[in-house]
Amino acid sequence: MRLKEKVVVVSGAGSGIGRQIAIEAAEEGAHVIALDVHHEGLAATAARAEGIEGAVVDVTNAEAVNETIQNTVRQFGHIDGLVHSAYWTNPKPLLETSTTDFDRTLDVVVKGAFFLGRAVIPVMLANQGGVIIPIASVHSVLGFSNFFAYQIAKAGLLGYVRSIAVDYGPSIRSVALAPGGIDTPALSDTAADVRESLAEKSLAKRIGTAHDVARAAVYLLSDESSFMTGTLLLLDGGWSAI
Ligand SMILES: NC(=O)c1ccc[n+]([C@@H]2O[C@H](COP(=O)([O-])OP(=O)(O)OC[C@H]3O[C@@H](n4cnc5c(N)ncnc54)[C@H](O)[C@@H]3O)[C@@H](O)[C@H]2O)c1
Repeated sequence: MRLKEKVVVVSGAGSGIGRQIAIEAAEEGAHVIALDVHHEGLAATAARAEGIEGAVVDVTNAEAVNETIQNTVRQFGHIDGLVHSAYWTNPKPLLETSTTDFDRTLDVVVKGAFFLGRAVIPVMLANQGGVIIPIASVHSVLGFSNFFAYQIAKAGLLGYVRSIAVDYGPSIRSVALAPGGIDTPALSDTAADVRESLAEKSLAKRIGTAHDVARAAVYLLSDESSFMTGTLLLLDGGWSAI
């Protein structure tokens, strides 16, 4: 029960990594407010563990984000953790990226992180502090073909955590959690041979699981990581070491 009585907001919790973080945070004793645009996905997440409440929220909608955070404060009085896992992208190189796709990628990943942080930080400052964890990626630090907007957005999250850590530490900590290839619906469309080569390229010789990421998220949300802030935690099976 490493997160007993903590209140944790998780965006993108209707699927994949966000869902698994919501479940494992709840299993560790947290009250979890799970945000997503997909109602069915949220319902499936909430059914997996006690202590998860779903809220249909688009993280690019500042008013909806503020309202949900205010409702959470009214209900619990404090918020101790924020995980921003929601994302959207249409992977393309620069010359094939439309303005609409560029804006949408940056809006969900970066502006969503901004809106969530702006709503949650005053609550954390008014209480005993808290932890803010955007889900970044190996794309935050390495270059892969066809991911122009996504790589800009995920690199931007590194500036986000440094700014929060510097401006609002020591009471608020912020760490970007940066996975490599993780087996989620986002990766399931990827051809079998590409998945095999992803596994082969990692030193762990496998694709990661949402559980691998959730375990790291629980560590970052807990007091066990109290000396860690303003940085990233790479969780890529050794991919970036090669
Ligand atoms: N799967 C991987 O291999 C991998 C690797 C590195 C990083 N990541 C990162 O992990 C995070 C989760 O990825 P995943 O694989 O679980 O993806 P996923 O597609 O399974 O889940 C993403 C969720 O975000 C939600 N979402 C999209 N736009 C939203 C919005 N505007 N407001 C609220 N929710 C919204 C979707 O509905 C979906 O439920 C992402 O930030 C992704 O960049 C994933």
